[in-house]
Amino acid sequence: MKRRGGYLLSVGLERRRVLAAGLATLATGVGWSGPSRCDGAETEPLRKLAAEKGLIYGTTISAAQITGDHEFVDLVLRQAGLVVAENDMKWSIMNRGTRGDDDYGPADTVAAFALENNLALRGHNLLWHHRTPSWYFKLNARSELERAIVGHIQAMVGRYRGMVHSWDVVNEPIEPKDGRSDGLRNGVFLEKLGPDYLDLAFQTARETDPAARLVVNDYDLEFDTPEQETRRTTLLNLLERMQRSGTPVDVVGIETHLSCAGGPPFSASRLRRFLAELAGLGLTIQITELDVTDENAPADPVVRDSLVADAYSRFLDAALDEAAVKMVVTWGLSDRHSWIVRQETHEAKWRSDGVPSRPLPFDPDLKPKPACEAIAHAFANAPGRAPG
Ligand code: XIL
Repeated sequence: MKRRGGYLLSVGLERRRVLAAGLATLATGVGWSGPSRCDGAETEPLRKLAAEKGLIYGTTISAAQITGDHEFVDLVLRQAGLVVAENDMKWSIMNRGTRGDDDYGPADTVAAFALENNLALRGHNLLWHHRTPSWYFKLNARSELERAIVGHIQAMVGRYRGMVHSWDVVNEPIEPKDGRSDGLRNGVFLEKLGPDYLDLAFQTARETDPAARLVVNDYDLEFDTPEQETRRTTLLNLLERMQRSGTPVDVVGIETHLSCAGGPPFSASRLRRFLAELAGLGLTIQITELDVTDENAPADPVVRDSLVADAYSRFLDAALDEAAVKMVVTWGLSDRHSWIVRQETHEAKWRSDGVPSRPLPFDPDLKPKPACEAIAHAFANAPGRAPG
């Protein structure tokens, strides 16, 4: 039998345990009878525990963190086998306002960091409706619209050719709520070019760097709700259509932005089934943006950390059973640098009481949290697989 997380039977139970055990124990391994895997003498970095099972573990980083937060960089180098630029490779972030005027500086910093430190690199992302430069929206002629996409993909994929393990070629292409029969998102690329933009993007990426794995990355695929079931079916249909028409797609990226309390119901068997269906298409699977927010959890950090850890356990214990899952990336490593703590977008995930969120494996002081233990144990208990 697989050893389960079991961080928390109930908040009440946990509170009693907290009183009995004392905070010191909690900081290094809530609920585990075995040794702490994230702190102390037994410590093994997450990347090593992952690699032993054929998995790659990674985190986001930014050029600003690389140059400005050496303490954090040390933690990344110790824990991660892969990095992904959180924002520095996004088109509208790089673009300075006019066509062709892209600043590669921060993206180069992240790529060089990966290369120098022998870390794998994810490319995130080539096309995303949310981060498309404003000048693109003003183009009208089909040939120009296509030329701009092709030019951007060739520039990015070409510049980092041979360095990128996987490219998110198209980010978040589905949105069944937009009402199309194919469930595709009615974003800028679809509106301007129709569904063919997907093929153009993937073909261009493949031609430019044949060794990079090409990814469709999307969200809200993890929970047991009718809406997410529709999203899963839509994504499966899209991938099947792409394969039938010879569009070169290798990987499905499942973002996995979870909430630890008050969120939709989770079904391990439903998730396993979905992952098996993806694997049945011959695709590999990457968990690309894992984090667990605590917007509905009590303020007490001990209780929150336990709930967050429990959500990591439940998700990873189910997901890692699927041998086609080859990578787990958390969307940050420490609560010191998290988009949710910074309160940039997705207001529904922010806490309303002014208390900082605690969504990641390490706390703002870079100390391991129960979430780190949860991830470490999920890796240690996962079945082995061929790396991919
Ligand atoms: C987020 C970044 O983390 C934030 O810093 C930024 O303000 C918005 O984008 N899905 C994705 C990621 O694919 O690129 C997003 O990253 C989070 C949701």
